[in-house]
Amino acid sequence: MSAPLRVGVAGLGTIGGGTVRLLRENADLIAARCGRPVTVVAVAERDKDHAASVDFGDAELLDDGLALAERPDIDVVVELIGGHGGIALELARRALGGEKHFVTANKAMIAHHGQELALAAEKSGVTLAFEAAVAGGIPILKAIRESLAGNRIRRVYGIFNGTCNYILTAMRDSGRPFADILAEAQALGYAEADPTFDVDGVDAAHKTAILAALAFGQRVDLDAVRTAGIRDLAPVDQVVAAELGYCVKLLGVAEDTGAGVVTRVEPCLVAADSPIARVDGVFNAVVVDADFVDRTVYQGRGAGAEPTASAVVGDLIDIARGGGWHAFGVPAGRLEQAKPAETALLSSAYYLRFAPNDPRGAIAGIAAALNEAGVPVANMFSDRAPGSVIVTTGTAQGAAVEQACASVAGSMALAGTPVRMRIEEF
Ligand SMILES: NC(=O)c1ccc[n+]([C@@H]2O[C@H](COP(=O)([O-])OP(=O)(O)OC[C@H]3O[C@@H](n4cnc5c(N)ncnc54)[C@H](OP(=O)(O)O)[C@@H]3O)[C@@H](O)[C@H]2O)c1
Repeated sequence: MSAPLRVGVAGLGTIGGGTVRLLRENADLIAARCGRPVTVVAVAERDKDHAASVDFGDAELLDDGLALAERPDIDVVVELIGGHGGIALELARRALGGEKHFVTANKAMIAHHGQELALAAEKSGVTLAFEAAVAGGIPILKAIRESLAGNRIRRVYGIFNGTCNYILTAMRDSGRPFADILAEAQALGYAEADPTFDVDGVDAAHKTAILAALAFGQRVDLDAVRTAGIRDLAPVDQVVAAELGYCVKLLGVAEDTGAGVVTRVEPCLVAADSPIARVDGVFNAVVVDADFVDRTVYQGRGAGAEPTASAVVGDLIDIARGGGWHAFGVPAGRLEQAKPAETALLSSAYYLRFAPNDPRGAIAGIAAALNEAGVPVANMFSDRAPGSVIVTTGTAQGAAVEQACASVAGSMALAGTPVRMRIEEF
């Protein structure tokens, strides 16, 4: 058997602990599959409780992850600390600059600094790998980079945030409001104490930007991802969606329109009989539409110690077998500057919910505003929830719908901004 691949793990929290456990529990199987052992030589952890809760065998315990980048007895640094800058980024720069392979689950860092890190890896002749950064245990980056590499991809979309999917599923199934379910998700450990990144769509935007880079050979462009979250949604949205044969999901979408790539994260109505509508709770799903393979659908656990560790260890195994792939599928210097297309120009049917003081009295004004903006009305309900007028439209440009909503908001008193969701026909 060849010499071991020597690994240093920075951060022994949820994912670091899971990764070390997987490498130890399945050590024989991994060694057999790689033709060499994958051995954790050193771990670094700042939190003493986390360190004490992980069995890292004979590995040396350090209290600062940065030290791993300097050690000559380490081939791969695994960063499982988190944060898009700070220590994680410094560790990435030092490890790659020091000709060590670098594996991370850190979507925020890759979304902000992916291009720079991919260039650094190529300059040093090492591998940068981040399968765990998108959809946890689902091997979607490898599928796009390798198995689907012969295809021209039209669209990648899916459910990339388990916290939001848990909340939306529970709103649908229990009829309870967003705030109640968020509190429950926090108690169950499905949502962070500060849920902003999840419920405002930022986490899904990181993943969408990374998927767009891989699918379309463009630089990661987080700023181009039009992002909306789920805070304003109410149980009635799921009730009316179900009545019409749909289900509400927070989707990340990266799509080549021919005039540029649209990237967006927003709650949408998806057909209740589509594969993605049936992905509930904390599960994630990714759908890839491509020219030769047509549609492929991937589903699984998008977070948590074990599924995410599975992805981290998959990257380590690939490196142990030789590594050497381009992080975004093509040499980083050849990634094109993204040509973002304007989402407002996309056309679709829409679901709209307004909260006027006098719903019955508001109907005529809402209908007139939509008509004036050229947005056809398909259904209008003023009796589904107290204080709400709900409209579904025919196909219209996003810009026209936005204009109609602004006109309604300017012409009558509304509680909150109108809820606006695309009705997707994927
Ligand atoms: N949790 C998931 O399900 C999941 C899924 C996919 C991807 N990820 C990504 O995986 C990464 C890790 O997430 P996690 O949930 O495992 O986080 P976590 O549980 O908070 O673990 C991170 C650990 O790193 C430690 N740390 C901080 N600075 C350090 C330093 N300078 N040297 C050594 N250790 C240091 C932290 O200690 P302190 O507590 O003292 O700061 C903490 O124990 C993040 O990038 C996250 O986005 C997580």
